[in-house]
Amino acid sequence: MDKIIDYYDNLAETYDENRFENTYGKFIDKQERNILNQLLTNSKEMILDLACGSGRLLNYANFGVDASSKMIEISKHKFQNKSIYLADAEKTQFEANTFDTIISFHFFMHLNQNKVDKILEECYRILKPNGRIIFDVPSIKRRELLNFKTNEWHGAYSTSIAVLKQNHHFKINQTFGLLFFPIHRFPKFARNFLVKIDLIIANSFLKEYSSYLIIEYKKNDDN
Ligand SMILES: C[S@@+](CC[C@H](N)C(=O)[O-])C[C@H]1O[C@@H](n2cnc3c(N)ncnc32)[C@H](O)[C@@H]1O
Repeated sequence: MDKIIDYYDNLAETYDENRFENTYGKFIDKQERNILNQLLTNSKEMILDLACGSGRLLNYANFGVDASSKMIEISKHKFQNKSIYLADAEKTQFEANTFDTIISFHFFMHLNQNKVDKILEECYRILKPNGRIIFDVPSIKRRELLNFKTNEWHGAYSTSIAVLKQNHHFKINQTFGLLFFPIHRFPKFARNFLVKIDLIIANSFLKEYSSYLIIEYKKNDDN
């Protein structure tokens, strides 16, 4: 996994501009924030941003963790009043039952099933009873439809709601689809209209044919 950390160490300084200053990045960021605004309504919650990177979504959390020291430098500089730690998401230093909510974006997509499972184990450990993790992941049904394949680690992982339902530590509470149409490729004048249609289709029975799924996973306290 070190190649992933090296990659983000090298990208850290330009990450915000490189990923979120273009039409695609701005669109994704806005839609993710719309969903987080719907789900994160209790300001008293203990919230961890897992793989917080440069701190794009750290305004929603009190704590951050990332394995790239360069990314951490940037997020610490932006959010001097937050507790941000360098750690592997698989082995954080937090005590059991610490957080109400964990958010984790643009992270699982770069891992493999084994690593995702280990990180979910750790999330289960550090979440309070009834805690939840909110994360995004590419939809495998969309990728199969478009015959998307990659040999690289970057963005290579995808999954389905059926697979996510098999995790015995968590149950799915809510799902959202994101980016059914490649909106950023349409001319500017058409985008506002398309965003509205996209939101409807990406949250209909065609949800899993969106590019990404956003999952609210609730900790299962039966085991
Ligand atoms: C694409 S960035 C996402 C950053 C942020 N969550 C966002 O949405 O903008 C992926 C982040 O995952 C971090 N990362 C990769 N492997 C990790 C691991 N095993 N534990 C913790 N962080 C990791 C990288 O350092 C990088 O900052």
